[in-house]
Amino acid sequence: MSFWAPFPEIQQDLDRVRSVIDSEISTPGGIVSQGLGDLARRDAKLLRPGFTVLAARIRNGGNPASEGIVHLAAAIEMLHMASLIHDDIVDNAATRRGQEALHVTHGSRLAVLLGDFLFARSFTLVAEHARSSNARVLSPSVARLVSAAIAEVNDQGQLDLSPRRYLHRIVGKTAILFALSFHVGAVESTPTGEDDRVVQTLRRIGYNLGVGFQIVDDLLDISGDPAKTGKPRGTDLRSGIITLPLIVALQQDPKNELSGMVREIRRGRGHVDRLLEQVTRRLEQSGALSATAAVAERYTHRANRELMRLPLGRDREILGSVAVRLLQRSA
Ligand code: FPP
Ligand code: MG
Repeated sequence: MSFWAPFPEIQQDLDRVRSVIDSEISTPGGIVSQGLGDLARRDAKLLRPGFTVLAARIRNGGNPASEGIVHLAAAIEMLHMASLIHDDIVDNAATRRGQEALHVTHGSRLAVLLGDFLFARSFTLVAEHARSSNARVLSPSVARLVSAAIAEVNDQGQLDLSPRRYLHRIVGKTAILFALSFHVGAVESTPTGEDDRVVQTLRRIGYNLGVGFQIVDDLLDISGDPAKTGKPRGTDLRSGIITLPLIVALQQDPKNELSGMVREIRRGRGHVDRLLEQVTRRLEQSGALSATAAVAERYTHRANRELMRLPLGRDREILGSVAVRLLQRSA
């Protein structure tokens, strides 16, 4: 079931977003439509375009999203898709959304270029449909996203990563684009384009939901069910990406047993699967998983507190349910 299915009005707007994406990637008879079409048809959550649409509806009294908003929501999803194509190459991940990643089916050279194509199309949509002030907000956000991806590569294998640096990284990687999705939906639906209290509140909600979302994502990488997440467990650990559960557990590792196991996994020698199981058990038993889940809850709670400042209505209610579903998700 699609993530937005319980909210048919949002689903209807998102069907329009999907059509825009389909038409943007359909080039006559080529590899672009075939490769990207295959990715676009997979069961994506469409969170970011959903946020754009929802923010627009909150701003304009619950009316369906305008054509401009639908195109901007499509642009944000296409930017996200481009970043995932590149991310799977960088992470050497074999699957995406339960199927082979694009670089596996088409080779890395084509996959990089297909990502670039989406990226370029996304910017074209923004140039055509956004106010120039919003188009200007987009470039630093993308720069921050890419910087976070660079930091993640740079930090690989660094076992003394601070929670602060981790947070900075996930803000760049996820929260910025969540916040931007809300910002664009809200401000583009404001006739004056003013950055008022509702716009600021929605942006803060996006930020807090984004941090919470990424923490849950990092938990699912350790303890999620691959049949539901569509990705094998332990991808982060295998490639030496240190996330919050491990940061928490490494703070109580006086005999350096855990850090020894993590290094062995990274080297890829010996019984990696057995070591991964041991690390997971240790994270569970030490309380590191539940402590991490509590941090995700804190950010969701902050988003819910902000929500109270928004005008009462069906769309505010939907946003509240979405916050809970994101925290409790298993995929
Ligand atoms: C997924 O994280 C990755 C991202 C949200 C962004 C990665 C960004 C880049 C690679 C920069 C390229 C950007 C553009 C705009 C072309 P994850 O690896 O934790 O999640 P996953 O488990 O779903 O892969
Ligand atoms: Mg990845």
